[in-house]
Amino acid sequence: MKKITRREALKYLGNSALSAALASLGVSAFTSCTEKGKKRLVFYFTATGNCLYAALQFSDTPLSIPQVLKETDLVFEADEIGLVFPDYQARAPQIVQRFLENATLKAPYLFTIITYGRWACNVVEWWNNFALSRGVRFNYITTILMVDNFLPVFDMTEEMKIDKQEDAQLAQAVADVAAEKDYIPVLSDEERKRCEAVLAHLTPILPVRSETLFRLRPDRCVDCCFCTRVCPRQCITLTSRGIVFEGDCEYCLACIQNCPQNAIELKNGERNPAARYRNPNISINEIVRANRQ
Ligand SMILES: Cc1cc2nc3c(=O)[nH]c(=O)nc-3n(C[C@H](O)[C@H](O)[C@H](O)COP(=O)(O)O)c2cc1C
Repeated sequence: MKKITRREALKYLGNSALSAALASLGVSAFTSCTEKGKKRLVFYFTATGNCLYAALQFSDTPLSIPQVLKETDLVFEADEIGLVFPDYQARAPQIVQRFLENATLKAPYLFTIITYGRWACNVVEWWNNFALSRGVRFNYITTILMVDNFLPVFDMTEEMKIDKQEDAQLAQAVADVAAEKDYIPVLSDEERKRCEAVLAHLTPILPVRSETLFRLRPDRCVDCCFCTRVCPRQCITLTSRGIVFEGDCEYCLACIQNCPQNAIELKNGERNPAARYRNPNISINEIVRANRQ
């Protein structure tokens, strides 16, 4: 197998399709080596960059789940394997669930980092049970409070003003994982009851068709096609009629949040249609590379 440096792997990841890279170089090109000499693989899903920023704290070359899912061989082996994804209504995004259902993760130490914006509710417990029911036993699961990108409820301008101390939380998680700490927080009975009561009254956001969710502002759209390229499900295309939404949506909001013209709106309304969010450390091209289909 051809050996490349981590820097080359990163460049490779940026310049060509991940599937081609995995096929020609093998997954070892994306395995980082920890200070203790352990081989670590990190997989992530992101819409607005929080999870990519978090994943980069654990590996220089994290692998994007929407890209990895294009592969047929989903068997991964390392000393440590980690997943980083956002909390969606106290669940994992559908694409992350699909990844766990289809991949074989062989590692003595398995960890998960879940980013969330306001209330993680019982997401850790749910994820742990989901994984166990598929034969995957995580050693460590934690949540990291970051900007809440859920546009129907939160104003992105206000959210960005709140200091959520994400770097301190991430530093703790990085240290925990480096020490291969075993830790899965357990909810008290009272917390569990509160979560169940709230979730019972919450309208599930999925499944939803993208054509019912989004409205395009033709006066603003310049056909730059960033929306088509940040969608992890290929639900957006440029046609002779302009941008068209069609297909089962992930509800990640990557299209709406990353549109440079602010030309996409939620049909059912938003807290502040003028405000959009992407993690300040992550570029739109990194989101494109992570999600394009
Ligand atoms: C559809 C959807 C549902 C969400 N549900 C929750 C939730 O239940 N609790 C919460 O605290 N944050 C929730 N969030 C916020 C995200 O988990 C959070 O902003 C995350 O850090 C975004 O990660 P990303 O930037 O990598 O996409 C939700 C976001 C979306 C888009």
